[in-house]
Amino acid sequence: MSVPPLSLTVNGARVTVTPRAGLTLLAHLRNDLGLTGTKTGCATGACGACTVVMNGAAVQACQVPAAALQNADVQTIEELVKTPAGRAVAEALIAAGAAQCGYCLPGIVAAASAALARDGAATDLPAALSRNLCRCGTHARILGALERVKNASGAEA
Ligand code: FES
Ligand code: FES
Repeated sequence: MSVPPLSLTVNGARVTVTPRAGLTLLAHLRNDLGLTGTKTGCATGACGACTVVMNGAAVQACQVPAAALQNADVQTIEELVKTPAGRAVAEALIAAGAAQCGYCLPGIVAAASAALARDGAATDLPAALSRNLCRCGTHARILGALERVKNASGAEA
């Protein structure tokens, strides 16, 4: 039985993907759309490496079934770093030397920028990043850099 394609917006462009059994948003982004900035980690919802922004909220792309994608609005790291919140987060992480391997950072940028864009100076960063693991153990440096972004957003408000 053929399955009709799904239409959604990814990084501001209208795209279609053909759902296949068991595939998630993560697979469609990386395999069908070539957006490999979003990383594959545990594929079980435990690490946050695959975090993207969907309809304004951070989601773990490995946990979003294709059935949820019709008319969704998705932003990946490729687009998020061009947004004010995403750019501020990425620049702060670079300035702080927060990365070791860097594998966790696309997901962290997505989670943090979605929270900062929504809550600004009131953002609870530890809560926003509670589902993002850094296997290199640089959580403290990452949170420190993001606190500076949050405080700067408060100064601008
Ligand atoms: S790869 Fe999705 S949460 Fe780990
Ligand atoms: S810097 Fe390596 S997983 Fe975070």
